[in-house]
Amino acid sequence: MDSQILVIFGASGDLAKRKLIPAVYKLHKGGYLPEKFIVLGVSRTDYTDEEFRNNVFEDSDFLDSNKDADFADKLFYQAIDTLSEESYSKVRQKLERLGEEHHIAPNYIFYLSVPPSLYPKIPAYLAGEGLNKQDKGFSRLVIEKPFGYDETSARELNEQLLEYFEEEQIFRIDHYLGKETVQNLLVTRFGNGIFEPLWNRNYIHHIEITAAEEIGVGSRGGYYDKSGALRDMVQNHLLQIVALMAMEPPNSTDADAIRNEKLKLFQAMRPIKKEEVSQYAIRGQYISSEVDRDLIKGYREEEGVPNDSTAETYVALKFFIDNWRWADVPFYIRTGKRLPAKATEIVVYFKSPPHHLFINEQDFTNMNNQLIIRIQPDEGLLLQFGMKVPGAGFRVKNVEMDFHYSELTDAEVPEAYERLILDVMKGDATLYARGDSVEAAWQFIDPILEAWEANPDIKLYGYPAGTWGPEAARKLIEGENVSWRTPCKTLTESRNFCEL
Ligand code: BG6
Repeated sequence: MDSQILVIFGASGDLAKRKLIPAVYKLHKGGYLPEKFIVLGVSRTDYTDEEFRNNVFEDSDFLDSNKDADFADKLFYQAIDTLSEESYSKVRQKLERLGEEHHIAPNYIFYLSVPPSLYPKIPAYLAGEGLNKQDKGFSRLVIEKPFGYDETSARELNEQLLEYFEEEQIFRIDHYLGKETVQNLLVTRFGNGIFEPLWNRNYIHHIEITAAEEIGVGSRGGYYDKSGALRDMVQNHLLQIVALMAMEPPNSTDADAIRNEKLKLFQAMRPIKKEEVSQYAIRGQYISSEVDRDLIKGYREEEGVPNDSTAETYVALKFFIDNWRWADVPFYIRTGKRLPAKATEIVVYFKSPPHHLFINEQDFTNMNNQLIIRIQPDEGLLLQFGMKVPGAGFRVKNVEMDFHYSELTDAEVPEAYERLILDVMKGDATLYARGDSVEAAWQFIDPILEAWEANPDIKLYGYPAGTWGPEAARKLIEGENVSWRTPCKTLTESRNFCEL
């Protein structure tokens, strides 16, 4: 890999400390970094290189307790006023100096771990110093969500970025795409002859995706209240999962081959009509309740949240994909904070056989096979199918076959950020969101947001913290023998009451 410098804007911030530097450290420990590699932290705080290193190592539970000198030697720092264009010459000079001293070619990754208001500014100021040019080395820009607030602002942001950087230089992080289990969706679908023929409207009854979190908004109330669950989780993470589950097979694993298919899929998602939003999009907000004798705060009591907030902390959607493969197959997604378990999983619910020979309600009321793909925790796959109960007659019972990643003792599942940072270092954009598909995803989300905004009569259901969300969401999916699967801490457990 080319020698390079990773420049982290917002280096003294929370994300850099919690996720980025630990990920780079793990890459270092794993021997994945190029021999000549440096991290340059940039932010307002007035640190020297040494103070920055100490700050990184202090209170850190990821670094070896003895300061890892090899790693510390790779860390440098430049304080600037990020809002002032003039101060960017300091970044350029420091980069040139570091490059010369450490024999590193001018290959730069600019990671913007900063508030979104700075997204258009930093690229412009970098370009002012010629740091967007690729004539002597590469220059890549990494940005974190939110990519806009709706379709219009996403388009504006893309235009602003494209004024200074080419699309192939821009890497939009969606940390879900860095998860090993999310990438495995491609292998499950396109690497297995047994699943591929079944993956369509002829055999699949519906698909459901759940991303449940036990935590509340914690100290992020200020940010979250302007976002809500639909923007925070659905527009990005969950729609990316939908795309990987439903897109057509790409011609290759090349970044654009995959991203072209995702774009086509987003374009085929039928937007929910404004007048049908109350029927197909259920929103909820957690209210205070007692869980295990602890009183849990309601969302409106959280720090930074107005006491009349209407931000949704839960959302469930039903929608369709208008294309040849998925006509009439309902997709359901739900996500929420303060639910009973932390679990993200996909359920592929197959159609029942055409003629029911073996119905014996006593043991087996559900003839639908299910494939459960567990994104986290207890990552793995579970296939449910019917088996004959030994003995007289034909009594059928549901049994399960399961695979857990933890069984692969020789493979360590890398952290999402580790994988994504390594990919941008290699220039591989496969696991990054492309500008056009971000806009297409917003096109699906916008009518829901607009309807909620324009029509306060659309119900915002309260749900007690520690429960599975509003009753209305249950009704969204309910049908003959069909209801949301209730995920537990482990993949194979699912019922109304499970160990939490
Ligand atoms: C983030 C959201 O993108 O994803 C958070 O902003 C959410 O609100 C988090 O908690 C969930 O990520 P994970 O990896 O814990 O499922």
